[in-house]
Amino acid sequence: MSIVITGATGQLGGLVIKHLLDRAVPAGQIIAVVRNVEKASSLAELGVEVRYGDYNDRESLEKAFAGASKLLFVPSPDAHDETLRILQHANVAKAAKDAQVGQIAYYGYAFGETSKLSLATTHILTEGIIRTTGIPFTFLRNPLYTDVFVSPQSVGAAVQYGALVANAGAGRVHSAYRYDLALAGAVVLTEEGHENQVYNLAANTTWSFEELAAAIAKVSGKAVVYNPISFDEQKALLLQAGLPEGVAIMVAAINQSVADGETSQTSNDLKALIGSLTSLEEIVRQSLQA
Ligand SMILES: NC(=O)c1ccc[n+]([C@@H]2O[C@H](COP(=O)([O-])OP(=O)(O)OC[C@H]3O[C@@H](n4cnc5c(N)ncnc54)[C@H](OP(=O)(O)O)[C@@H]3O)[C@@H](O)[C@H]2O)c1
Repeated sequence: MSIVITGATGQLGGLVIKHLLDRAVPAGQIIAVVRNVEKASSLAELGVEVRYGDYNDRESLEKAFAGASKLLFVPSPDAHDETLRILQHANVAKAAKDAQVGQIAYYGYAFGETSKLSLATTHILTEGIIRTTGIPFTFLRNPLYTDVFVSPQSVGAAVQYGALVANAGAGRVHSAYRYDLALAGAVVLTEEGHENQVYNLAANTTWSFEELAAAIAKVSGKAVVYNPISFDEQKALLLQAGLPEGVAIMVAAINQSVADGETSQTSNDLKALIGSLTSLEEIVRQSLQA
């Protein structure tokens, strides 16, 4: 058996490989597909086979996928250009079909059909493209990562200024920790019975920004309150912090989707796959210690 992972030099793909190794999958059965082979030297040292493959180069992907029993397809990060991302994802699907891959697990977007975010359109289209290959699939629909909202930088700034500032209104968030989502991928790749299944990997509980501020205050021992702002104020703050306009708009749009209630729907799928989810407080603690 060989398990091929794309995006293996990234955070999610790297964590999936860690979980596969922890689940006693021999390193020799794992193939990391990367666009920068040098960047994957630590994986090669572990005994993982490293192959070159670029989402923009279908032929390189077909070669990289040769002999794959299972393919874990991590989506492209080029979310600044969703049209390009659809082309890249079609390259992956066509290459998988031509390389006669046995099964594809794809990380999409939770409850994507009801989201107004353009990134959700890409994920739903990609699922459709994968279905056209006829290859048995597992759709692992990720929610927003908790890591998007709770990072060493964001928690550190909240502690420093005593305020968590975002245009998330009173919305509730069904996010999950990237680490937990990677474990779900490793479970699907190492267990039977997940063919042609669609899993919405949103958490089974939600949190609000007010609750996040309270968690940061509790863990840090410092006063932290939530300060809700508007979309335009959020965008201006991010531009002032030096982010490119496209990124500032994307972050403000993600927060707005929280304010608009898009991230409030829960699911038991992630819990059913991995058992228990990392708590918000624990993620805050890890962020403060990082
Ligand atoms: N749900 C969420 O909240 C959320 C948040 C952020 C991202 N995402 C999505 O989830 C994916 C995985 O997240 P992540 O945190 O692991 O992102 P990440 O750390 O940025 O990893 C992205 C991976 O894609 C690889 N890649 C980029 N362009 C490529 C190309 N043209 N051909 C082949 N590989 C390419 C990168 O390679 P290099 O190492 O060479 O750059 C890296 O290995 C992202 O790509 C994005 O689609 C979801």
